[in-house]
Amino acid sequence: MAYNLLKGKRGIIFGALDENSIAWKTALKVHEEGGKFTLTNAPIAMRMGKINELAKTCGAEIIPADATSEQDLTNLFTKSVEILGGKIDFVLHSIGMSPNVRKDRPYGDLNYDWFLKSLDISGVSFHKVMQTAEKTDAMNEWGSIVALSYIAAQRTFPDYSDMAQAKAVLESIARSYGYRFAKLKRVRVNTISQSPTKTTAGAGISGFDVFFDYANMMSPLGNATGEDCANYIVVMFSDLTRMVNMQNLMHDGGFSSSGITEELIEKLSK
Ligand SMILES: NC(=O)c1ccc[n+]([C@@H]2O[C@H](COP(=O)([O-])OP(=O)(O)OC[C@H]3O[C@@H](n4cnc5c(N)ncnc54)[C@H](O)[C@@H]3O)[C@@H](O)[C@H]2O)c1
Repeated sequence: MAYNLLKGKRGIIFGALDENSIAWKTALKVHEEGGKFTLTNAPIAMRMGKINELAKTCGAEIIPADATSEQDLTNLFTKSVEILGGKIDFVLHSIGMSPNVRKDRPYGDLNYDWFLKSLDISGVSFHKVMQTAEKTDAMNEWGSIVALSYIAAQRTFPDYSDMAQAKAVLESIARSYGYRFAKLKRVRVNTISQSPTKTTAGAGISGFDVFFDYANMMSPLGNATGEDCANYIVVMFSDLTRMVNMQNLMHDGGFSSSGITEELIEKLSK
């Protein structure tokens, strides 16, 4: 059911790769709620061509941008304002990639060039997105900017590797820029810390199925799905959350506040 929560709002959605992507599901919901937006992803990710289907469904234009390139981001913000016919009300940063994870490097044998790449793509790019939005004066007053995080920023999950540091950087940037943008333009900045979700990025973590099942058992409500996450993002983009700023919002069915559950006790009882 749609509520027209985003009627008249304009935005940019990063990171829709295929129909499993959280950004893909978000684009569909934002469209349903009346929001207009441009879609963007790294040029290399677009070769798969899937994003064209989504663009067609949502009546959105696609503007390729590597989120680590200030030049690409400047082009993205400038063109988005032109195409959408006004300044931007919402931005979704749904980007994550670690070459060390992808290539299964153990945490005690990281390639440091790749480590810096993980930080740049998955963390620093969030700063680049907002600095570009500020410099191009692309944001509307009372806009909302959201990035997606994971609880490995606070607690150790062995196979998450250097992505844990990238997520800690991401959440810290949300606090620092959330302060700055609120003072400048009343724009709020938050991260949503999402349950394990079956997507390309998620499945890239080794042992993903096990920690998906573990999190599901440890959450009184079970894992939040990608679709649940899309709904939450819509609310964060809407005027119903104008005073939520500089937060890391847990969206995990209760996982982060649970010590143990009956399901796990049963499973571990001998
Ligand atoms: N899947 C999970 O279990 C889970 C849990 C918590 C948080 N998250 C986060 O959610 C976000 C979205 O991931 P997803 O699970 O939907 O997976 P996904 O693989 O569908 O999305 C990741 C996106 O990042 C894009 N990307 C990579 N490098 C880029 C670059 N240089 N410039 C621009 N875009 C680039 C990819 O093309 C892809 O579209 C990520 O930040 C991820 O860490 C995922």
